Amino acid sequence: MALPIEILVGSTAGNTEYLATEIEQKLNASNHTTQFHDFPKWEEINFNATFLLCIATHGAGEYAESIVDFMEHLEHRQPDLTHLKFALIAIGDSSYDTYCSAGIKASELLQRLGAKEISSMLKIDMQITTEPEKIALEWIDQISWP
Ligand SMILES: Cc1cc2nc3c(=O)[nH]c(=O)nc-3n(C[C@H](O)[C@H](O)[C@H](O)COP(=O)(O)O)c2cc1C
Repeated sequence: MALPIEILVGSTAGNTEYLATEIEQKLNASNHTTQFHDFPKWEEINFNATFLLCIATHGAGEYAESIVDFMEHLEHRQPDLTHLKFALIAIGDSSYDTYCSAGIKASELLQRLGAKEISSMLKIDMQITTEPEKIALEWIDQISWP
């Protein structure tokens, strides 16, 4: 049986949350069990699942609002994540020097804690992309989920 997928959303203005709901529908249609965390809370996350993180960058390369607390917990607690596999979609805008920095930072932190990225990070450039959902759903399709 496939592991459940925890969808962790980092969104401030809602674009990424919408994208993540589309992805969840697709995963459910492919018989994956998912838990959707639009505001990930440390105590509600199942670390024995696979993670799919959808993270927008805000500020000057900072995490979008909804995932700030969770990432701070991760940074401070430094749990052993050697058993964890994850995939990550970074949302940003290439007109910023800090293009997709939050997603990159999250991936680096998870890997430092031992987690393994199961597919190269998908970066979505909201400056040029008119159909982010299409790109994300195609990318999701090629992942072999554990
Ligand atoms: C105030 C503000 C700051 C932003 N800063 C960055 C940034 O530093 N790097 C980046 O790649 N994108 C940046 N963006 C682009 C956002 O990541 C993009 O608009 C994204 O769609 C926002 O997702 P959300 O609606 O889920 O919050 C910024 C957007 C805003 C409005």
